[in-house]
Amino acid sequence: MVAIADRAQRRLTIQTANLARDTTTIRSLDWDRDRFDIEFALNNGTTYNSYVIQGEKLALVDTSHEKFRQLYLDALKGIIDPTQIDYLVISHTEPDHSGLVKDILQLAPQATVVGSKVAIQFLEEMVHQPFQRMLVKNGDRLDLGNGHILEFVSAPNLHWPDTIFSYDHATQILYTCDAFGMHYCDDYTFDEDLNLIEEDFRYYYDCLMGPNARSVLSALKRMGELPEITTIATGHGPLLQYHLTELVGCYREWSQAQAKAATTVVVFYVSGYGYSDRLAQAIANGILKTDVAVEMVDLKSIDPQEVAELVGLASGLVIGMPPQSGASVETTRSALSTILAAAHAKQSVGLFEAGGGNDESVYPLRNQFQSLGVHEVFPPIQIKETPTEALYQLCNEAGTDLGQWLTRDRTVKQMKSLDSDLDKALGRLSGGLYIITAKKGGISSAMLASWVSQASFKPLGITIAVAKDRAIESFMHVGDHFVLNVLEEGNYQPLMKHFLKRFAPGADRFAEVKIYAAENGSPILADALAYVECKVVSRMECSDHWIVYSSIDTGRVSKPDALTAVHHRKVGNHY
Ligand SMILES: Cc1cc2nc3c(=O)[nH]c(=O)nc-3n(C[C@H](O)[C@H](O)[C@H](O)COP(=O)(O)O)c2cc1C
Repeated sequence: MVAIADRAQRRLTIQTANLARDTTTIRSLDWDRDRFDIEFALNNGTTYNSYVIQGEKLALVDTSHEKFRQLYLDALKGIIDPTQIDYLVISHTEPDHSGLVKDILQLAPQATVVGSKVAIQFLEEMVHQPFQRMLVKNGDRLDLGNGHILEFVSAPNLHWPDTIFSYDHATQILYTCDAFGMHYCDDYTFDEDLNLIEEDFRYYYDCLMGPNARSVLSALKRMGELPEITTIATGHGPLLQYHLTELVGCYREWSQAQAKAATTVVVFYVSGYGYSDRLAQAIANGILKTDVAVEMVDLKSIDPQEVAELVGLASGLVIGMPPQSGASVETTRSALSTILAAAHAKQSVGLFEAGGGNDESVYPLRNQFQSLGVHEVFPPIQIKETPTEALYQLCNEAGTDLGQWLTRDRTVKQMKSLDSDLDKALGRLSGGLYIITAKKGGISSAMLASWVSQASFKPLGITIAVAKDRAIESFMHVGDHFVLNVLEEGNYQPLMKHFLKRFAPGADRFAEVKIYAAENGSPILADALAYVECKVVSRMECSDHWIVYSSIDTGRVSKPDALTAVHHRKVGNHY
């Protein structure tokens, strides 16, 4: 019942806007979407953007999500006669942009579908009907007339293996689909107000582009060879125009930082099979919380030499099991043999099932890695049913464990590197002892914290320094809710000991702890001295920590006369 009522409240609307000469956008606004493919939650909905270019020839760049079928097709018919479409440009084949390709081809069966070789292969599997096609490579051009010459830019892995960008020489608009996008829905067509969007822009980069930083840098290099770009027409969120240079600069800076990381993990998955790409992405996001770079590689579309090179430079390998039969089985099997031949004992590995119903067994591969002496960081992740949020959380935490394992020596060295006088002086800074608890959807997390401070009176606000690789970091994005539990002097040891345990990926951190639910849904610890309910307002990046500023909604003290537990430190190089 609740699910139906929820769904009925959801708002789907359409926005159309003229962008430049002969160019119109149709933006499908999905105001209330709160979850995307992988584990991350959305606070501000999302949009699916499509574009019409009316040269002498008529072109449509991407479509929409199938949930917008009627709204989208009505809007399209208000702008053009869809039966006259000459070209349908597919930036990539993810269903939220190509969900209505079949509908368009029914209206305009003569239309030529334009895409990369991989995109056209994927589309054949999606639409199951013959269609005219034009396979394009980097630098290829398509003349639509009236000066609208589309130049294609190959941008594989941003964030699908088949991605192309299209640059219109007449309007200087670059159509990039997922790249430079964000999950942010409002009536603004453009990026006028950076304050509104920067958090979502960064989060989207971290989730989708961070695991492909090398590919981002290659795409940026290719973009640099184009004439001036005045607008980036994205597939999600506002189009970039006002802050284009700055936001493109962020992609460069964040990707360069990744590329410089001394340690790399290669995550092999199989696109379009089971949940392989989503699980791979959840693991990759977990790895990226540590100071380790990730390369995500589709086993189906990589050449053997590249596999061997990547394995050679990797400190860690994660492999999603491919299907044991089907069109690509020979390619993926030979890729697995190449990985095994190139792997060595100093590497660490993690394996996961893809959940496609036809997975190769994990165990023979696991045995082969074990006989090479490769260290297994987390036990094989197995899939019994459709992945839940809990499984994505497990994958994320498994990824973080792998990253932390690979950087353990570095971390210890950094901790020891403080001059001893300074170390002791800094150690005189002290704080209270708190447990942060959070619940989002069906999953929860907790952490012991002492770097907590009140930060404002109006509104009442606090800051908490949260290390980037903490499990609870995923629960502390802008708009998220949590509880700050204050521990009691003389009575904090049991809770502190419990929450300092090393939890296995995905473990329930509240097993055997007395809790009850706060108004915001997060757990309140029954043995805490006091608690306050908080909402994250903003985050400031401070090297290895996020300073999370949150407003306080409500709170309560259970023992009015008791004091807060204080953490007196001896050294400054640890909490
Ligand atoms: C006394 C003490 C205070 C701590 N305070 C913080 C803190 O303020 N921020 C933080 O990120 N970690 C802090 N930590 C570290 C985490 O509580 C601890 O590493 C936790 O077990 C991390 O778990 P996770 O990475 O599996 O989530 C503190 C640890 C101790 C011992």
